[in-house]
Amino acid sequence: MKVKDVETLDPVTVNPGASIDRLASLVTERGIAYAVSETGELLGVVTGSSLISALTSNYARAATAQDIMVAADSFPHVEPETDLHTAAGLFESSRVTELPVVASGVLVGSLPQRSVLMTFSTTVASLKGNGYHERRALAILQSLHEGLIVIDRDLIIQEFNPAAERLMNAKAKDRIGQKAQVVSRDESPIFEVMRTGKARYNVMTPLADGRMFSVNYVPMVEDGEVQGIIETFHDITEQEDLRSQLVSSRDELDRAFALTLPNSRVEHKLKHTPEYRDRYDPETGLITVTEVIEDGNYKHVVNALKVLADLNTKGIMSLLGISKDVLVQSIIFHDLGKSQPQLQIGQTVDPKKAFEHSPAHAARSADIASHFYHRDADVIWLIRYHHHREDELPLDFPRHLMPMLRLLQLVDGLSAALTRRSAQIKLDVEDTRVTVYERNRHPDFNKSRSVDLFTGEAVVLNID
Ligand SMILES: [Fe+2]
Ligand SMILES: [Fe+2]
Repeated sequence: MKVKDVETLDPVTVNPGASIDRLASLVTERGIAYAVSETGELLGVVTGSSLISALTSNYARAATAQDIMVAADSFPHVEPETDLHTAAGLFESSRVTELPVVASGVLVGSLPQRSVLMTFSTTVASLKGNGYHERRALAILQSLHEGLIVIDRDLIIQEFNPAAERLMNAKAKDRIGQKAQVVSRDESPIFEVMRTGKARYNVMTPLADGRMFSVNYVPMVEDGEVQGIIETFHDITEQEDLRSQLVSSRDELDRAFALTLPNSRVEHKLKHTPEYRDRYDPETGLITVTEVIEDGNYKHVVNALKVLADLNTKGIMSLLGISKDVLVQSIIFHDLGKSQPQLQIGQTVDPKKAFEHSPAHAARSADIASHFYHRDADVIWLIRYHHHREDELPLDFPRHLMPMLRLLQLVDGLSAALTRRSAQIKLDVEDTRVTVYERNRHPDFNKSRSVDLFTGEAVVLNID
């Protein structure tokens, strides 16, 4: 039996620039997503574990598929002509749930582990006696990291593989010959499969101890009678936790953010002011638009609030002269007066001509925050001067606001990096000094730096 003879799935594919949010929804659905080139060539694989490690590192949500994927040549794959025994071996050693099916470098399908399980379970179940094929199929099932229990029609356990020992925390020698215990919280489909003789696949089974298993039940039928059931299963608790975490953290963030917005008109303006990703040509000084982020200003403000929340947990708000409320209000309003040109992907422009000089939108934003929303004087000062260098500030700029102006400018810049340059950022706070470790594909920004909020002294730590 070969890969081409069994059920394969349509692979879940993304382009290498796909965002973490997009990947998260795909990977939590299927457990795996494939990054492919425009011509369908397999470039890499994003699995649940690569996603989890990306999500637990700071701000990795701005990363893309190509930042977190396992390169195609380091990931096991099968071809349509690959023997199913070989595929079973790859599942055993790699512990993945699907393998890419590749023909001449092009991704043509995805082989789920259950196709292997079903094929061998059916072989075990359909052959009477102790035939060679039956023993070989059983040996393959035994070796998989999927738990395997064979139950006869009196519910007596006949087989209990090492993975089942690990997953059920029980010893095969204690279990074989015993009656099967029902550990799921709901009624086990075993009885239904015994009665109907129809297999059930991927049954989500919550256990009494809180874990979640995905279980397959394949009946062993002899002379039209169900003689027993082959039950295979694996633990999907982590995958399910990840799914609910992602959903709740997105909801929480949206709710928390909606609370800080003064009204729906502000939200509407933010969501309809675009930002652009571009490629800069140092020879001509021109930029070419590579992506339009329609709700760019909204994303920029959300990212800035996230950076601020991170600095908050690192203790920055305990510094004298730093007020959380003033900073949150400044972030929400700082770019509200921005007027962006309408640009298309592929368009090449001179940024100095196409975009308004930044202090102009800062002044407009400050006027809006002051006249329509009556924000504090400190908030207005910060917004009005968020694009000024320190030596350009007017003489009457309140000196007590200097630490917050430096912090606002830092947060604004970091959020732009997250929103427009797909950066990965880590922050450290030590006393009055904030250190930023930034990594991204733009060499000019791939550096670490540190700023003292009280003195304004800035140091570039390294360039790599
Ligand atoms: Fe701005
Ligand atoms: Fe900004």
